[in-house]
Amino acid sequence: MTDTSRENSATRARWQTCLRLARELLLVGPDDEDLKLHYLHTLIDTGRLGPTHHPRKKILVIGAGITGLVAGRLLKDAGHDVTILEANASRVGGRIKTFRATKHHQPFDDPAQYAEAGAMRLPDFHPLVLALVDKLGLGRRQFYNVDVDPGTGSGPDVPVPPVTYTSFTGRTWTYGDDSPDFREPDKRGNSWIRANRTQVRRADYAAGPERINEGFHLTDDEVRAPVVKMVDDALESVRDHYSDVVDGKRVNKPFDEWVEGWARVIRDFDGYSMGGFLRDHAGLSDEAIEAVGTLENMSSRLHLSFFHSFLSRSDINPGVRYWEIPGGSWRLPHALYEGLRDEVRFGHRMIRLEFHDPSRDTDPEGTGAVGPDRWGVAVQTVAEDDPQAPPRLWTADLAIVTIPFSALRFVEIVPSMSYKKRRAIIETHYDQATKVLLEFSHRWWEFTEDDWREELDRIAPGLYEFYQLGGEPGTGEVSSFAGAGSGLLGAAVKDSGVTEEMRQLNGSLPLRGPAVRPATHCFGGGSAADNPNRFMYYPSHRVEGSTGGVVLASYCWSDDAARWDSMRGPERYVYALRNLQALHGRRIEVFFTGRGATKSWARDPYAFGEAALYTAHQMTSFHLDVSRPEGPVHFAGEHTSLKHAWIEGALESAVRAALAVHRAPTVTTPGPDAGEERR
Ligand code: FAD
Ligand code: ARG
Repeated sequence: MTDTSRENSATRARWQTCLRLARELLLVGPDDEDLKLHYLHTLIDTGRLGPTHHPRKKILVIGAGITGLVAGRLLKDAGHDVTILEANASRVGGRIKTFRATKHHQPFDDPAQYAEAGAMRLPDFHPLVLALVDKLGLGRRQFYNVDVDPGTGSGPDVPVPPVTYTSFTGRTWTYGDDSPDFREPDKRGNSWIRANRTQVRRADYAAGPERINEGFHLTDDEVRAPVVKMVDDALESVRDHYSDVVDGKRVNKPFDEWVEGWARVIRDFDGYSMGGFLRDHAGLSDEAIEAVGTLENMSSRLHLSFFHSFLSRSDINPGVRYWEIPGGSWRLPHALYEGLRDEVRFGHRMIRLEFHDPSRDTDPEGTGAVGPDRWGVAVQTVAEDDPQAPPRLWTADLAIVTIPFSALRFVEIVPSMSYKKRRAIIETHYDQATKVLLEFSHRWWEFTEDDWREELDRIAPGLYEFYQLGGEPGTGEVSSFAGAGSGLLGAAVKDSGVTEEMRQLNGSLPLRGPAVRPATHCFGGGSAADNPNRFMYYPSHRVEGSTGGVVLASYCWSDDAARWDSMRGPERYVYALRNLQALHGRRIEVFFTGRGATKSWARDPYAFGEAALYTAHQMTSFHLDVSRPEGPVHFAGEHTSLKHAWIEGALESAVRAALAVHRAPTVTTPGPDAGEERR
């Protein structure tokens, strides 16, 4: 082969990879059908996997996150013998986890309060998850990514609109009834942006970005552009590959051009990090990239693949409507678990996976657990709640492995999987995410200045004035506050949970920010800052019967998250409170109940990270191999989809894998019943 023909064939192979990736990304099936419609039909319309020549198989599902539960339900309902092995000793749901009061634990002072450790918002254009929530009767209400005017909108008594999905085939799929009276509340933008010691409300930033932008040393045209516009403008030329602007709106090109356009985007841009793209392709200045990174939640992702941020621009942006599940996201996996109580086996962590693929006829390790005479899978587990218990062996015809690749990395697999699968398990980048949640006895973020006066003076007459005068020890007329500072932590809360350790730590640090900042007066939405909290979210709705609320004081990704992971819980709470005070004034301290909850997903023993987020090149280099079955072992989970870090991607993968396993041929030689254990 000449150098030129080698080059040509490499180019052709690469193009084919990009085309296949584009089809996978767009969920285009082998006959150009829309796989999303197929999944919606399977999971929502019928709940059935359809006919198969191979009924009743023994199937092991590894992991009872949302993927394992959905795949398990579909397969059980299709008549298969399903066992779901879950490492966690007491909880299904994996990365869907709500901090809430249970029989054994009460994270917050008010037992009615709850808050999300993981998934919290469901975008309007994720129809599988929204329709599943509706089908299970869980109810849904808006999650406000941007704060709203609570006096507007149709209110809680008007039913939510149906779930709709418009396919590239032209078909529109709908679930639920029309709700012509539904109106969402007006967005207000009262929450804060704070960077380089300058603080403005979001609405003011949108109207005049100069003050904040100057803090980033932006000049010329850049200083006048809100960062969101800078990013959108930078991405426009990429969107031109697959869509046209018609009457000011983006419209997809005709089918073939649309798919090929996406393939060209993958070919030309998968090698970029987002930072590299903004600098080298879009020509943004370093300072503009710093501003974009800080305010658009990208600084922690600039080193990750262009594609991740490009796709998520349409997922998390102010124009998108989001939903949440009243009572907490945990209700979704829990509702599925209700139908799988006999199938889910808690506290069994897979440590070894052995499989026999009839196309390979050796048992290289000679273990004999799954030999050439038996097609199948053998999974070895250890008991998480009983270190003394001996390992167990579970055998089946087929398995669906739904655990993150970051967790699978620690499982011994026999025989070796294909080269590319091994690379994917080893290399798939997992991001980190850490949340710090703080409980307050009153929803101070909703207060007007009049509310502040009333509420502070209710605690102690003169307290409002004390803070107005600076709130420092020894200042003001009110001698009873002379020992202010840590002494006022939780002052409004009867028997607050503020510990001596918190007080000492807080007292040892210099006072943080002014005592008073303008009342935030904000319902839902969130603030962004360049202090370590980075992104703060106020609850979208009040909890029935509770005066207080839990603020997501810090939601960080990547390096921003890693900083928090080095701290212990009490330290995280004190620092998160102080950084919250920097934006909202020190006076919020009086409402701190001393209770909080924090979750680092990088430190979670079953997640080993937040979610799969590729670095540059990873998608083209191995994504097509991620979900490819290895003999009787199938793969599903958020990481096998191209909607990384979303429940929707996990659901797509669950239905895909359940269909594949349902249709797979039966065993050649029968083994023991699925779930039957051999020690
Ligand atoms: P998991 O939920 O991780 O399930 C895997 C299961 O396998 C777990 O139960 C685990 O305990 C178990 N397991 C692991 N190892 C083993 C083993 N060796 N043996 C047996 N069992 C094992 N999505 C949204 O849609 N909206 C959001 O707002 C959102 N926010 C998020 C915020 C954070 C901080 C995080 C971490 C995720 C968020 N997501 C969000 C993503 C969403 O939560 C995930 O995509 C989804 O829950 C993943 O489901 P899964 O079944 O693929 O994996
Ligand atoms: N679904 C997640 C959320 O709504 C997005 C996570 C993206 N993660 C990241 N590290 N960029 O918050």
